Amino acid sequence: MPRLADGFINELKERIDLYDLISSYVELKKSGSSWVGLSPFQQEKTPSFYVHPDKGFFKCFSSGETGDAISFVQKMENLDFHESLEFLSQRFNIPLKYEKGNSSQPYVKSIRSDLHSIHEVARDWFMSQLVLKNDESKVALQYWLNDRNFDFQTAKEFGIGYSPTDRFALGKFMRKQNFSIDLLSKSGLFRENLQSGSLVSSFCGRLMIPIHEKLGRICGFTARKLSVTPEWGEKKSPKYINSPETVIFQKGELLFNLHLANKAINEKKDFLLVEGQLDAIRCYIEGFHTVIAPQGTAFKDSQAQLLRKSNPRRVICLLDGDEAGRKAGLKYVPIFLEAGLDACFAILPSGTDPDQILVEKGKKCLQEILEKGIRMIDYVVQNLSAKDNLKTPSVKKDICEFIFKSLIQVKSFVIRESYLEEIANSLAISMESVKTDFLSFERRKRPNSKSSYSSRSNNKSPENGLERLTNVEDDLLFLLLHDNRIAGPLAYLIEPTWLNLESVTGCILAKVFAEIKADGPITTSRIEDLLETDEERKIFQLHLFQEYPPQEKENFLQLANECLSVLFLRSSKKLEERILTRLKDSDDVSSSSSKIRSELKELRKLRNSPPSLSLSVSAN
Ligand code: CTP
Ligand code: MN
Repeated sequence: MPRLADGFINELKERIDLYDLISSYVELKKSGSSWVGLSPFQQEKTPSFYVHPDKGFFKCFSSGETGDAISFVQKMENLDFHESLEFLSQRFNIPLKYEKGNSSQPYVKSIRSDLHSIHEVARDWFMSQLVLKNDESKVALQYWLNDRNFDFQTAKEFGIGYSPTDRFALGKFMRKQNFSIDLLSKSGLFRENLQSGSLVSSFCGRLMIPIHEKLGRICGFTARKLSVTPEWGEKKSPKYINSPETVIFQKGELLFNLHLANKAINEKKDFLLVEGQLDAIRCYIEGFHTVIAPQGTAFKDSQAQLLRKSNPRRVICLLDGDEAGRKAGLKYVPIFLEAGLDACFAILPSGTDPDQILVEKGKKCLQEILEKGIRMIDYVVQNLSAKDNLKTPSVKKDICEFIFKSLIQVKSFVIRESYLEEIANSLAISMESVKTDFLSFERRKRPNSKSSYSSRSNNKSPENGLERLTNVEDDLLFLLLHDNRIAGPLAYLIEPTWLNLESVTGCILAKVFAEIKADGPITTSRIEDLLETDEERKIFQLHLFQEYPPQEKENFLQLANECLSVLFLRSSKKLEERILTRLKDSDDVSSSSSKIRSELKELRKLRNSPPSLSLSVSAN
């Protein structure tokens, strides 16, 4: 990934008026020097969401959320850091600037946006073809309106179109729009050149359904067969044809309707996963706004990751009640478990699909089916016990192992334990037995490593456990961001080895101190440029925007000194432990042993005088 130009992130933030950005999501009223509105993150009756355009940050007092333009977009649009930059860059027309010397990526970037433009133009053309008055267009429109029971409004909303049977028509039209042959041939809209120089459409005589990526840019099509669709010589042509994989269309990285579903997920909480794109469109227009569908291929772990990023409560899978649906459901389970997504399964009457249910029986019927959904573990238990639902001891063991296989990939112990508990309940077996079998399963699968489950649960060391909410590193980061007397001296007083580099804040501090030693005093914006992961940025912002009573500032130096001495003592303790081990291993009378003893003495003497920031550092 190319690096963004130094300082660009700041430039971007400075050029964006936070009021402009946020007021398109939240109705804001003036309140002193800031603006206030109802929290977009939580239901509330009294406005407690404050926006400070002059300082470039917002704060939501009901959810505690705070951040800048970038984190606002991350949260509202469910995007990661880089996607948010792209979003803002498009929205405010500020091109992303990359560091010089890395020219390959901007080139790929421009090809990407050209390919999106080509798709937009093609979509508009397909849409115009759908309403022409010729015979084949009439067939297509008739199919949409009468056979499928959709309306004009939906066609417009989803960009539905028709690709004529004339396989050269699209190419001729696109050439007139001045797109180069080279670019058009990379778009996936045309088949490999059969006759040189002519562009042969990949889709002929089909209903065209555009597919968008997460940010809502169009990147491909799926095309449904109609009665006018030409067959492939002797062979029947398939019911659906999808765009081939291109730079912008990678099926495993896309989910149909995700761009719209993401807008509703914060409110509706659950994603609804269906199989077909037309099913998804039907669900959407019937009010199931968080519906998504894979692109005609099996649901993949990369797609589960896409959903994970939006923090849903769970994913409800709508499955066909037949054998194929049952098998599909079982394939979802490991993917969801390993992605850390909770899921449940709602079963349709055999041989129907969501579209049919909604058209024939209505919304309420689908709603009832969804409410009858069963939790992931119960689903496995039901479907792996033989047809007669006989849970013999060995069937129970198979069920456990089916779930264990994925559960050993899960890092969170709370999640592991929760599912183990569900297995125990569902199979009516004690939690203890399930847990014991799980541990031995894990050991069997990873013979070289100690069971992380048992080692973790017996381990009292804070380094390995969940990180505490605040620790010295956190306090120090907060202090140095809010009092510019602190960072400089700290950089020289704190040895890098004193910091816990397993914590995100420890890593940030290490980078900041190294930078100060190399380059002198540092500004907040330069600190921001040093950050490398979303997690680092999140923690940085958390501290940067944390508010405190002004009088507390008087204590900052003293607090910094306290932190300094905690760090110093922590590292001195570690050093002491190491010396003591060496001492134990060494021969009692050897000269090395006496050397170690004097090292120990020295260390203990030093411990009495921890370093401190001199209070005379001038305030600025
Ligand atoms: N599919 C595909 N290629 C095919 C058949 C199916 O990509 N040759 C995908 C499509 O995404 C389709 C989904 O699998 O939506 C489910 O297939 P199916 O149940 O056959 O179609 P429906 O979605 O019910 O389509 P329709 O209602 O248009 O018949
Ligand atoms: Mn269908």
